[in-house]
Amino acid sequence: MGRGLLSGKVAVVTGAASGIGAAVVDRFLAEGARVIAVDLAGQGADRPGVLAITGDVADARTWRRIADTARSEFGRLDVLHGNASVVTRAPAHELAEADWDRQIAVNLTAAYLAVHACVGLLRETRGTIVLSSSVHALAGLPAHPAYAAAKGGLVSLGRQLAVEYGPEVRVNTVLPGPILTPAWDGIGEEDRRRSAAGTAAARFGRPEEVAAAVTFLACEESSYVTGACLVVDGGWSAVKDSA
Ligand SMILES: NC(=O)c1ccc[n+]([C@@H]2O[C@H](COP(=O)([O-])OP(=O)(O)OC[C@H]3O[C@@H](n4cnc5c(N)ncnc54)[C@H](O)[C@@H]3O)[C@@H](O)[C@H]2O)c1
Repeated sequence: MGRGLLSGKVAVVTGAASGIGAAVVDRFLAEGARVIAVDLAGQGADRPGVLAITGDVADARTWRRIADTARSEFGRLDVLHGNASVVTRAPAHELAEADWDRQIAVNLTAAYLAVHACVGLLRETRGTIVLSSSVHALAGLPAHPAYAAAKGGLVSLGRQLAVEYGPEVRVNTVLPGPILTPAWDGIGEEDRRRSAAGTAAARFGRPEEVAAAVTFLACEESSYVTGACLVVDGGWSAVKDSA
């Protein structure tokens, strides 16, 4: 029941098989877009309006395939939502170097690879890029050194890209707070309760609520918004509990 906000547009969504990415795919489809949905092997499949690509966003070859597919199958690309993510929880002194490298590659370097491969297509359509950062870019939380560094890097990179590729391409970043997705599987009940209670909204966010913000940034409704960060965290970053 969309309003046709992305009617006729072609969008790439990464991390499309789960959580926020899956909700963004659903919302983009509802708004009239056709979607190239990117995820790792065995996750995600074609369905009406969706062309699934299996690949690792940290691999430049995946991005060349995505750009080639956009060109050959649709003749255009209008929206790029970089959303795939991986997190390994450990304090810096216990985090293996390979896990540091992998988190930087998937969460940050992938955005560079995306632009490297796709910005030509996006310039042709005066398209938009929406990057998924996190409130981890704003506040330190235990056991997330590489994830936080990558998400902080995305905030700077988003601004940089907006300057670099404006006025043709708008680039914005969303910073979700606690959103109930499979990423929370395996996180204990007490940690979940604390995260939800730490928001002004007093609850977890839903993937659809982030998808709404991504859709706003992806479409013409945000035509004068670029280089911006949109925090979607139920007020988590506004709360300072001094009790
Ligand atoms: N859920 C939250 O509370 C929360 C909070 C802040 C930020 N975020 C951010 O929002 C985005 C989506 O989070 P989510 O909770 O929906 O995650 P999720 O774990 O539910 O889904 C992530 C998806 O990314 C895919 N993926 C992982 N590595 C990949 C790779 N190398 N190449 C291609 N696909 C890959 C996974 O297969 C999975 O389908 C992420 O960028 C995350 O950092 C989420």
